[in-house]
Amino acid sequence: MAPTLTASSSFLVAVVILSAFPGFSSGSVLFSTLPRTLVVSASPQPGQVLKAGEDKITVTWSLNGTAPAGTDASYKTVQLKLCYAPVSQVDRAWRKTKDDLAKDKTCTHLITSRPYAASNQSYEYLVQKDVPTATYFVRAYALDANKVQVGFGQTTDKAKDTNLFEVEAITGRHASLDIAASCFSAFSVLSLAGFFMAEKRRGKKGNPTTPAANM
Ligand SMILES: *[C@@H]1O[C@H](CO)[C@@H](O)[C@H](O)[C@H]1NC(C)=O
Ligand SMILES: *[C@@H]1O[C@H](CO)[C@@H](O)[C@H](O)[C@H]1NC(C)=O
Repeated sequence: MAPTLTASSSFLVAVVILSAFPGFSSGSVLFSTLPRTLVVSASPQPGQVLKAGEDKITVTWSLNGTAPAGTDASYKTVQLKLCYAPVSQVDRAWRKTKDDLAKDKTCTHLITSRPYAASNQSYEYLVQKDVPTATYFVRAYALDANKVQVGFGQTTDKAKDTNLFEVEAITGRHASLDIAASCFSAFSVLSLAGFFMAEKRRGKKGNPTTPAANM
Protein backbone atom coordinates (compact mmCIF):
# COMPACT_ATOMS: atom_id res chain seq x y z
CA MET A 1 0.00 0.00 0.00
CA ALA A 2 1.36 3.43 -0.92
CA PRO A 3 2.02 5.59 2.16
CA THR A 4 -0.13 8.49 0.86
CA LEU A 5 -3.04 6.16 0.27
CA THR A 6 -2.63 4.77 3.79
CA ALA A 7 -2.60 8.27 5.26
CA SER A 8 -5.69 9.54 3.52
CA SER A 9 -7.74 6.39 3.93
CA SER A 10 -6.96 6.04 7.64
CA PHE A 11 -7.83 9.72 8.07
CA LEU A 12 -11.14 9.07 6.33
CA VAL A 13 -11.86 6.08 8.55
CA ALA A 14 -11.13 8.19 11.64
CA VAL A 15 -13.45 10.95 10.42
CA VAL A 16 -16.23 8.47 9.69
CA ILE A 17 -15.86 6.86 13.13
CA LEU A 18 -15.85 10.25 14.90
CA SER A 19 -18.88 11.54 13.03
CA ALA A 20 -20.80 8.36 13.88
CA PHE A 21 -20.95 9.44 17.53
CA PRO A 22 -24.20 11.27 18.22
CA GLY A 23 -23.84 14.76 19.66
CA PHE A 24 -25.10 15.60 23.12
CA SER A 25 -28.77 15.92 22.45
CA SER A 26 -31.17 17.74 24.69
CA GLY A 27 -34.25 15.85 23.56
CA SER A 28 -36.40 16.50 20.58
CA VAL A 29 -37.66 20.06 20.96
CA LEU A 30 -39.05 21.77 17.87
CA PHE A 31 -38.01 25.40 17.61
CA SER A 32 -41.38 26.28 16.06
CA THR A 33 -43.09 25.24 19.30
CA LEU A 34 -41.04 27.52 21.56
CA PRO A 35 -42.71 30.70 22.81
CA ARG A 36 -40.75 33.91 22.25
CA THR A 37 -40.72 35.07 25.84
CA LEU A 38 -37.30 36.70 26.23
CA VAL A 39 -36.41 40.18 25.06
CA VAL A 40 -32.82 40.12 23.83
CA SER A 41 -30.62 42.89 22.54
CA ALA A 42 -26.95 43.04 21.59
CA SER A 43 -24.59 45.99 21.32
CA PRO A 44 -23.50 45.75 17.66
CA GLN A 45 -25.22 48.16 15.30
CA PRO A 46 -26.92 46.63 12.25
CA GLY A 47 -24.21 45.82 9.71
CA GLN A 48 -21.37 46.44 12.15
CA VAL A 49 -18.25 44.34 11.52
CA LEU A 50 -16.56 42.87 14.60
CA LYS A 51 -13.10 41.34 14.69
CA ALA A 52 -12.86 37.86 16.17
CA GLY A 53 -10.48 37.74 19.14
CA GLU A 54 -10.65 41.53 19.64
CA ASP A 55 -14.13 42.97 19.72
CA LYS A 56 -16.77 42.51 22.38
CA ILE A 57 -20.53 42.16 22.33
CA THR A 58 -22.73 43.14 25.24
CA VAL A 59 -25.91 41.09 25.31
CA THR A 60 -28.83 42.13 27.51
CA TRP A 61 -31.95 40.10 28.12
CA SER A 62 -35.03 39.94 30.29
CA LEU A 63 -38.42 38.30 30.41
CA ASN A 64 -40.93 40.07 28.16
CA GLY A 65 -43.09 42.08 30.58
CA THR A 66 -46.28 41.09 28.75
CA ALA A 67 -45.68 37.35 29.28
CA PRO A 68 -48.39 35.77 31.49
CA ALA A 69 -47.49 35.34 35.16
CA GLY A 70 -45.75 32.02 35.79
CA THR A 71 -44.31 31.82 32.25
CA ASP A 72 -40.81 31.57 33.66
CA ALA A 73 -41.65 29.24 36.56
CA SER A 74 -39.64 26.41 34.95
CA TYR A 75 -36.77 28.59 33.69
CA LYS A 76 -33.48 27.62 35.30
CA THR A 77 -30.81 28.66 32.83
CA VAL A 78 -30.39 31.13 30.01
CA GLN A 79 -28.14 30.04 27.19
CA LEU A 80 -26.87 32.77 24.86
CA LYS A 81 -25.69 31.80 21.41
CA LEU A 82 -24.24 33.36 18.28
CA CYS A 83 -26.34 32.26 15.32
CA TYR A 84 -25.79 32.28 11.57
CA ALA A 85 -28.06 34.54 9.55
CA PRO A 86 -29.63 32.84 6.49
CA VAL A 87 -27.23 34.72 4.17
CA SER A 88 -24.34 32.80 5.79
CA GLN A 89 -26.08 29.42 5.61
CA VAL A 90 -26.49 29.29 1.84
CA ASP A 91 -24.70 26.19 0.42
CA ARG A 92 -23.39 25.30 3.88
CA ALA A 93 -25.16 22.16 5.05
CA TRP A 94 -23.13 22.22 8.27
CA ARG A 95 -24.89 25.44 9.32
CA LYS A 96 -28.35 24.36 8.26
CA THR A 97 -31.43 25.33 10.25
CA LYS A 98 -33.54 22.37 11.42
CA ASP A 99 -36.70 22.75 13.41
CA ASP A 100 -35.55 19.87 15.67
CA LEU A 101 -33.18 21.70 17.99
CA ALA A 102 -31.11 18.56 18.57
CA LYS A 103 -30.17 18.74 14.86
CA ASP A 104 -30.24 22.49 14.34
CA LYS A 105 -26.93 24.04 13.30
CA THR A 106 -28.02 27.68 13.29
CA CYS A 107 -26.53 28.54 16.67
CA THR A 108 -23.31 26.61 17.11
CA HIS A 109 -21.31 29.18 19.08
CA LEU A 110 -22.14 29.35 22.76
CA ILE A 111 -21.69 32.81 24.27
CA THR A 112 -22.49 31.78 27.82
CA SER A 113 -24.93 29.95 30.07
CA ARG A 114 -26.19 31.86 33.13
CA PRO A 115 -28.66 31.08 35.88
CA TYR A 116 -32.04 32.53 34.91
CA ALA A 117 -33.31 35.72 36.53
CA ALA A 118 -36.43 37.62 35.53
CA SER A 119 -34.77 41.02 35.86
CA ASN A 120 -32.62 42.68 33.20
CA GLN A 121 -29.37 40.81 32.79
CA SER A 122 -26.34 41.53 30.69
CA TYR A 123 -23.17 39.78 29.67
CA GLU A 124 -20.08 41.01 27.89
CA TYR A 125 -18.64 38.54 25.39
CA LEU A 126 -15.29 38.71 23.64
CA VAL A 127 -15.86 37.29 20.15
CA GLN A 128 -13.79 34.13 20.25
CA LYS A 129 -11.04 33.45 17.73
CA ASP A 130 -12.75 30.31 16.44
CA VAL A 131 -15.81 32.26 15.26
CA PRO A 132 -15.73 32.19 11.45
CA THR A 133 -16.36 35.13 9.16
CA ALA A 134 -20.14 35.31 8.73
CA THR A 135 -23.29 37.32 9.44
CA TYR A 136 -24.84 36.70 12.83
CA PHE A 137 -27.54 37.46 15.34
CA VAL A 138 -27.83 36.51 19.02
CA ARG A 139 -30.41 34.10 20.37
CA ALA A 140 -31.18 33.25 24.00
CA TYR A 141 -32.77 29.98 25.04
CA ALA A 142 -34.49 29.52 28.37
CA LEU A 143 -33.74 26.01 29.65
CA ASP A 144 -35.60 24.11 32.36
CA ALA A 145 -34.05 21.98 35.10
CA ASN A 146 -33.49 19.16 32.56
CA LYS A 147 -31.65 21.53 30.18
CA VAL A 148 -34.56 21.36 27.74
CA GLN A 149 -35.44 24.52 25.79
CA VAL A 150 -38.72 26.03 26.97
CA GLY A 151 -38.55 29.56 25.59
CA PHE A 152 -36.38 31.85 23.54
CA GLY A 153 -35.64 35.37 22.40
CA GLN A 154 -33.42 36.79 19.66
CA THR A 155 -32.02 40.06 18.40
CA THR A 156 -33.54 39.67 14.94
CA ASP A 157 -37.04 39.17 13.55
CA LYS A 158 -38.68 35.89 12.65
CA ALA A 159 -37.21 35.88 9.12
CA LYS A 160 -33.75 36.52 10.65
CA ASP A 161 -32.95 39.30 8.19
CA THR A 162 -32.95 42.48 10.28
CA ASN A 163 -30.51 43.80 12.87
CA LEU A 164 -27.66 41.50 11.86
CA PHE A 165 -23.94 42.05 12.42
CA GLU A 166 -20.80 40.57 10.98
CA VAL A 167 -17.74 38.88 12.37
CA GLU A 168 -14.46 38.96 10.54
CA ALA A 169 -12.21 36.02 11.42
CA ILE A 170 -8.60 36.70 12.32
CA THR A 171 -6.03 35.92 9.65
CA GLY A 172 -4.03 32.81 10.52
CA ARG A 173 -7.14 30.94 11.49
CA HIS A 174 -6.86 28.74 8.41
CA ALA A 175 -3.20 28.10 9.14
CA SER A 176 -4.03 26.75 12.60
CA LEU A 177 -6.84 24.62 11.21
CA ASP A 178 -4.44 23.17 8.64
CA ILE A 179 -1.92 22.41 11.38
CA ALA A 180 -4.58 20.65 13.43
CA ALA A 181 -5.66 18.60 10.39
CA SER A 182 -2.12 17.55 9.50
CA CYS A 183 -1.33 16.61 13.12
CA PHE A 184 -4.43 14.47 13.10
CA SER A 185 -3.49 12.65 9.92
CA ALA A 186 0.15 12.26 11.05
CA PHE A 187 -1.23 10.64 14.20
CA SER A 188 -3.33 8.20 12.15
CA VAL A 189 -0.33 7.31 9.96
CA LEU A 190 1.79 6.66 13.06
CA SER A 191 -0.83 4.50 14.74
CA LEU A 192 -1.36 2.56 11.54
CA ALA A 193 2.41 2.06 11.14
CA GLY A 194 2.54 0.88 14.77
CA PHE A 195 -0.27 -1.56 14.10
CA PHE A 196 1.47 -3.03 11.04
CA MET A 197 4.75 -3.38 12.90
CA ALA A 198 3.04 -5.19 15.76
CA GLU A 199 1.29 -7.44 13.28
CA LYS A 200 4.55 -8.18 11.50
CA ARG A 201 6.30 -9.04 14.77
CA ARG A 202 3.44 -11.32 15.75
CA GLY A 203 3.54 -12.93 12.29
CA LYS A 204 7.30 -13.61 12.57
CA LYS A 205 6.85 -15.25 15.96
CA GLY A 206 4.04 -17.43 14.61
CA ASN A 207 5.98 -18.58 11.49
CA PRO A 208 9.66 -18.87 12.41
CA THR A 209 10.35 -21.21 9.46
CA THR A 210 8.90 -18.95 6.72
CA PRO A 211 10.09 -15.39 7.37
CA ALA A 212 9.88 -14.55 3.66
CA ALA A 213 6.09 -14.86 3.76
CA ASN A 214 5.98 -11.75 5.90
CA MET A 215 7.95 -9.52 3.62
C1 LIG B 1 -43.42 41.14 24.15
O1 LIG B 1 -44.41 40.21 23.74
C2 LIG B 1 -45.47 40.78 23.01
C3 LIG B 1 -46.49 39.68 22.78
O2 LIG B 1 -45.89 38.54 22.24
C4 LIG B 1 -44.93 41.35 21.71
O3 LIG B 1 -45.97 41.92 20.95
C5 LIG B 1 -43.89 42.40 22.04
O4 LIG B 1 -43.31 42.89 20.85
C6 LIG B 1 -42.81 41.82 22.94
N1 LIG B 1 -41.91 42.89 23.36
C7 LIG B 1 -40.64 42.94 22.99
C8 LIG B 1 -39.87 44.10 23.49
O5 LIG B 1 -40.13 42.09 22.28
C1 LIG C 1 -35.14 46.42 31.69
O1 LIG C 1 -34.60 47.55 31.04
C2 LIG C 1 -35.54 48.23 30.22
C3 LIG C 1 -34.82 49.33 29.50
O2 LIG C 1 -33.55 49.50 29.95
C4 LIG C 1 -36.69 48.76 31.09
O3 LIG C 1 -37.63 49.41 30.29
C5 LIG C 1 -37.34 47.58 31.81
O4 LIG C 1 -38.31 48.04 32.69
C6 LIG C 1 -36.29 46.78 32.57
N1 LIG C 1 -36.93 45.57 33.08
C7 LIG C 1 -36.69 45.10 34.30
C8 LIG C 1 -37.42 43.82 34.63
O5 LIG C 1 -35.93 45.61 35.08
